[in-house]
Amino acid sequence: MAGPSRTVLLLAIVAAVASFARLGAADLKTDYYASTCPNVETIVRGVVQQKMQSTIRTIGSTIRLFFHDCFVEGCDASVLIQSTAGNQAERDASDNLSLSFEGFETIRSAKAAVEDACPDTVSCADVLALAARDAISLSGGPFYPVELGRLDGLSSKASDVPGQLPEPNHSIDQLVAIFKAHGLNITDLVALSAAHSVGLAHCAKFAYRLYNFKPGQPADPSLNPKYAAFLRGKCPNGGPDWMVLMDQATPAMFDNQYYRNLQDGGGLLGSDQLLYADNRTRAMVDALANSTNAFYQAFADAVTRLGRVGVKSGKRGNIRKQCDVFN
Ligand code: HEM
Ligand SMILES: *[C@@H]1O[C@H](CO)[C@@H](O)[C@H](O)[C@H]1NC(C)=O
Ligand SMILES: *[C@@H]1O[C@H](CO)[C@@H](O)[C@H](O)[C@H]1NC(C)=O
Ligand SMILES: *[C@@H]1O[C@H](CO)[C@@H](O)[C@H](O)[C@H]1NC(C)=O
Ligand SMILES: *[C@@H]1O[C@H](CO)[C@@H](O)[C@H](O)[C@H]1NC(C)=O
Ligand SMILES: *[C@@H]1O[C@H](CO)[C@@H](O)[C@H](O)[C@H]1NC(C)=O
Repeated sequence: MAGPSRTVLLLAIVAAVASFARLGAADLKTDYYASTCPNVETIVRGVVQQKMQSTIRTIGSTIRLFFHDCFVEGCDASVLIQSTAGNQAERDASDNLSLSFEGFETIRSAKAAVEDACPDTVSCADVLALAARDAISLSGGPFYPVELGRLDGLSSKASDVPGQLPEPNHSIDQLVAIFKAHGLNITDLVALSAAHSVGLAHCAKFAYRLYNFKPGQPADPSLNPKYAAFLRGKCPNGGPDWMVLMDQATPAMFDNQYYRNLQDGGGLLGSDQLLYADNRTRAMVDALANSTNAFYQAFADAVTRLGRVGVKSGKRGNIRKQCDVFN
């Protein structure tokens, strides 16, 4: 086939895919509540700010809640539903150690404040998306416009969780595959992982890197030996219930220190350090480590795509009155 016609065909395909992608996200708009709840952003931000002043756990807990919501059944607030006698909900799946109280409490409080101003108007899924953005930007990360207009899902089942979330001991191929299954690519994986610039992790999630890693390797060789020794002190005998800051240098700052830590063998989770070990992702780590602007841009783009995953509209959702129970 001649060069030009191949190019034309390719462009046609790219244009078709692009317009399809836009259609998929067509319900979301940054000014969705402009006439129905004009102060929603100010209200949510005020609550997040207040919760952050009472505990820095608010930052990591709220951001992670948004990620888990989007990866299980889409960004539809299904992660917020409480289990009942007849239903074991998403948040009570076996791997829920990190979905800590502070994130749920922030969203409960923000939704209550929003309901006071504009009853039955703003979805819990949108409150969560806004609160995550505010936790990010109020702790030093990028401030990006949040696309809004998600509905809240009508189902939340622990049995929907297995296989949807990445694990800290996954290979790069597994991580890429899980992100791909949610419509995200390797660029998004590297950018979004910077969320591990804030918050904490339980020793149980990374202790395998510290003790008897592999025959002949007492610890994960990609770990900086000084950092490994420090972590053994924080996780004696593996200490599964203990917690360690994800980023020792700037623990409550949402910044690109995360990538500089990786360059120094200082990634806490195996999945973090792999981003520097693998030659498909190392160049991006280096670029984002160097430039706050590049980091802000890459993160804002990727988190916006995260917010479009599995969004519900029409009969597939509604607007909950209270985020932890169905109407
Ligand atoms: C790339 C694959 C990922 C893996 C394997 C992973 C795994 C984990 C693990 C094991 C923890 C510690 C949980 C605990 O022990 O309590 C954690 C914490 C956290 N993750 Fe991820 N995660 C990934 C991606 C993401 C993404 C994309 C985001 C958000 C955009 C995110 C946000 C967070 C936050 C903020 C924390 C701290 C939670 C807190 O302080 O309570 N993670 N992650
Ligand atoms: C985690 O799930 C278990 C059931 O597997 C449940 O008993 C526990 O309350 C859950 N923890 C949180 C914080 O939701
Ligand atoms: C990762 O950890 C889980 C749970 O700790 C374990 O069941 C699984 O076999 C591990 N996977 C790999 C690839 O090591
Ligand atoms: C990932 O997707 C984004 C948005 O479509 C795109 O800009 C980026 O180039 C993609 N990355 C790769 C490695 O294909
Ligand atoms: C990455 O490394 C593999 C094997 O070491 C090599 O085959 C491949 O070409 C490299 N890819 C890049 C993008 O450098
Ligand atoms: C990062 O910055 C250093 C110093 O300015 C420069 O030498 C290096 O080439 C940069 N690396 C990347 C990947 O941009």
